[in-house]
Amino acid sequence: MSATEELTVHQVGPDQIINEWFPVATCADVAPGAMYSFRLIDRRYVLLHGADGMVSVFEDICPHRGAQLSLGTFDGARVQCPYHGWEFATSGDCEFRPAHPSMPIPEACRLTSVRVQRAYDLYWVCVGPEPRNLPTYEAFGEHPGLTVVLGPKPLGACGPRIIENFLDVAHFPYVHANYLGQVPHTEVKDYDVANVDGELHATNVVAWQPKPGPTAVEGGDVAYVYGVSHPYAAILTKVPTEANGGELAGFSLMLVASPEDETHCRVWMLTTINDPEGDLQSFLDFNTLIFGQDVDIVESQLPKRLPIDPRLEMHQRADRMSLAYRRWLADRGIRYGTTLND
Ligand code: FES
Ligand SMILES: [Fe+2]
Repeated sequence: MSATEELTVHQVGPDQIINEWFPVATCADVAPGAMYSFRLIDRRYVLLHGADGMVSVFEDICPHRGAQLSLGTFDGARVQCPYHGWEFATSGDCEFRPAHPSMPIPEACRLTSVRVQRAYDLYWVCVGPEPRNLPTYEAFGEHPGLTVVLGPKPLGACGPRIIENFLDVAHFPYVHANYLGQVPHTEVKDYDVANVDGELHATNVVAWQPKPGPTAVEGGDVAYVYGVSHPYAAILTKVPTEANGGELAGFSLMLVASPEDETHCRVWMLTTINDPEGDLQSFLDFNTLIFGQDVDIVESQLPKRLPIDPRLEMHQRADRMSLAYRRWLADRGIRYGTTLND
């Protein structure tokens, strides 16, 4: 099969994006009794955190005349539509219609719910009928209580461009000059890319950094491992070496982009450190700074949707992971945020 024919195959069938889980809120940001509205894959939803602790997510659309429920009020037990005052329990059932207070309420008067779960200190939602896997982020469980959450950060770019930027080390000396890299240490050595049980791994990714470890007094090499097990998420783990501070100086990052629409995302970055005495706040501050340096570049990239056909952009050898990711996305049946959706 030619490259063009293979790509055509991926354009048939429903876009699998709806079956992926996406973060919608940081758990700590949504207290019991709170209502939280958000956009995901072009639609609006509302998360209700009941006073009883139950968390549910519904389309943010009243079944009566389509008004936005989250413009109304939530008292921890019922959400009241701002238009005609219908009241819905956190189960989604309509329990009161003020215009007809004593008439029975048809069962069909209910909110449309979607799946929600809590993982990695975030609430995740899947709007499709056949949910797939969450991203694999083992560090979170291996180092309990040592994760700090950055986000959600709005970014005017498609999820796949955001993930590719996270997988790219060749930009370090330019976009993150004096932080993650430095001219003339620009060469990207060969690294390995493999598909391991459906997950994409890049190993032996080496970057020269001005401060390769917490106690380093001069620049040196740092090694990273990258993993992609979800189309809009990537994990980075710093491989500990004695020269760079040893096991305790190691850490992992998970970046995940949650699409409001094809070219606008809300982005979370989780950092998990190995050192129980480590300073999570300093990691949060550092990653906030690094994230900010990427914004203008990633928002500037054209076309806005990630090109999947390799002929649409030029490549260099350091882009092996990016090319493997593009193929992996297409194989997973994801067109949203890519040129396959043009
Ligand atoms: S639109 Fe919500 S009660 Fe009428
Ligand atoms: Fe960057």
